[in-house]
Amino acid sequence: MAAKVLVVGSGGREHALAWKLAQSPQVSAVYVAPGNAGTSAIAQNVSLDVTEMRKLANFAEQNDINLTVIGPDDPLAYGIVDMFRARGLRIFGPTRASAYLESSKAFAKQLMHEQDIPTAPYRVFRDYAAASAYIRECTLPLVIKASGLAGGKGVYPCPTLAEAEQALTDIMVRHIHGQAGGKVIVESFLSGQELSVHAICDGVNAALFPPAQDHKPIFDGNRGPNTGGMGAIAPVPDVSPELMRNVQRLVIVPVLDVMRRRETPFVGCLYPGLMRENGSTFKVLEFNVRFGDPEAQAYMRLLQSDLYELLAAAADGALGSQQLAWQSGFAVSIALVSAGYPGSAIATGIPISGVAEAERLSDVVIFHGGTVLTDKLRTNGGRVLHVTATGATLEEALERGYRAVRLISFEGMHYRTDIGAQALARMR
Ligand code: AMP
Ligand code: GLY
Repeated sequence: MAAKVLVVGSGGREHALAWKLAQSPQVSAVYVAPGNAGTSAIAQNVSLDVTEMRKLANFAEQNDINLTVIGPDDPLAYGIVDMFRARGLRIFGPTRASAYLESSKAFAKQLMHEQDIPTAPYRVFRDYAAASAYIRECTLPLVIKASGLAGGKGVYPCPTLAEAEQALTDIMVRHIHGQAGGKVIVESFLSGQELSVHAICDGVNAALFPPAQDHKPIFDGNRGPNTGGMGAIAPVPDVSPELMRNVQRLVIVPVLDVMRRRETPFVGCLYPGLMRENGSTFKVLEFNVRFGDPEAQAYMRLLQSDLYELLAAAADGALGSQQLAWQSGFAVSIALVSAGYPGSAIATGIPISGVAEAERLSDVVIFHGGTVLTDKLRTNGGRVLHVTATGATLEEALERGYRAVRLISFEGMHYRTDIGAQALARMR
C-alpha cells in the first residue's frame, strides 16, 4: 500500500508528526497544511489555513488522501472531523461533540464530577455578581478560567482576592476573551508537579504513551507568564507505573465509557493535563483532545511503532489491544522563542543561523515552529524552533539538546535553560 497523509497545522508538533509519518513504509507522501520551513523539507506544504475546513476536505478528496491528522484544537472544536467523516474521508481526531472535553472547561468539569474523576473543587458562573460574591467566601489562592478556547490565555492563577476580582472583571465585564468567557470556572489552586498523559483512543480502547512533562512559564524557575510550552521531557523518570495505571483506570477508561454512552465516542488523542500530588495520586487540571506541543516533539523521537498504522487503526475504531514500542532512554525538546513571546508584539522575519550545524550533532533533530524560508531561514512566529535530543539518560539527552541549542542564534532568541532540571533534581 502507498498511503498519502495530510497533517493539518504549522507548529513543531505537526513537523514532528509529519517526520514520523514519513518514516512509515506504508506512507508514500506526506502533505502539511499550511506547514512551515521545516515541514517543506520532509513533506509537501499546502497553502491552506487550519480553519479552511471545506478546502482541506476538497484537497483530501482530490488528492486521494488516506488519512488526515489534525494538530491544533481550533479545527477540532469547529467540527472538521464531522465534516471529513460526512464526506467519507478518513481522519484522526475527535468529533466536535467529543472535542467539548477541551473546548468547554465547564463541560469537562461537569463530566469529571459525574464520573468521580479526581479534579480540583470548582463552581461555574455565568453571572459576574454571583462569581464576585463567591470568591469572597473561598480560600485563596484560586484559579479562574474562561470556559471556552482562549488560545491558552484564559487561565488565571490568583494568589490574592484583588487578582481574582481583576480576572473576573476582565473575563465577565470587559469580555477580553469574547464568548469563551461566557461561562467562568472558579476552582481551588493545586500545587505539585504537572504531568502530561497521552492516550490514543479509537472510541473503545486506548493505547497510553509514557508520561511527559511540559514547562509552561516563559522563564527559568517557572517564573513569568504561561506560554504554549517552552520544553518537554519524556518519559518523566520518577512517575511510577502505579500512577500510570491509576490514570488509565480513573481517567481514561471512565472518559471513554461515558463518551460512548453519550453516543459521542472519543476517537483521537486524549491528553489530560495532571497535577501530581505525591506518590501515585493526582488531580486532572484539564483535558486536551490533541497531541501536546512540545510533548509530541519528544514523543516522536522515542516512538518505534508505525505512527501511520497506529493513527489509521484508531480512526477506524480498530486499535484492539495494540501495544506500542518505544526506544529506551529519554527525549527532550527545548523551544527557542522570539523576543516578545508570549505577548502579542512578536518580532518576525529575523534571520536564523546555526540550524544545519546543530542538526549535524548525533541524536539531535530540530523541529520547526514559526519559521519561513525566503532568501534564507527566518523567524515567523513565537515558538520558532524545537531542538530535540535523545540519550540513554535524561542528563545525556539534556546535555545533547543544550549543546545543539548553543549553536543556533537569531536576534532576540530566548530559551529556558532549566528544562528537565526539576526532574533531574528529584532523581538525586
Ligand atoms: P488549563 O488550560 O486548564 O490546563 O490551565 C493551563 C495551566 O494553568 C495548567 O497547565 C496549569 O499550569 C495551570 N492551572 C490550571 N488549573 C490549575 C489549578 N487548579 N491549580 C494550579 N494551576 C492550575
Ligand atoms: N503542552 C501544552 C499544550 O499542548 O497544550
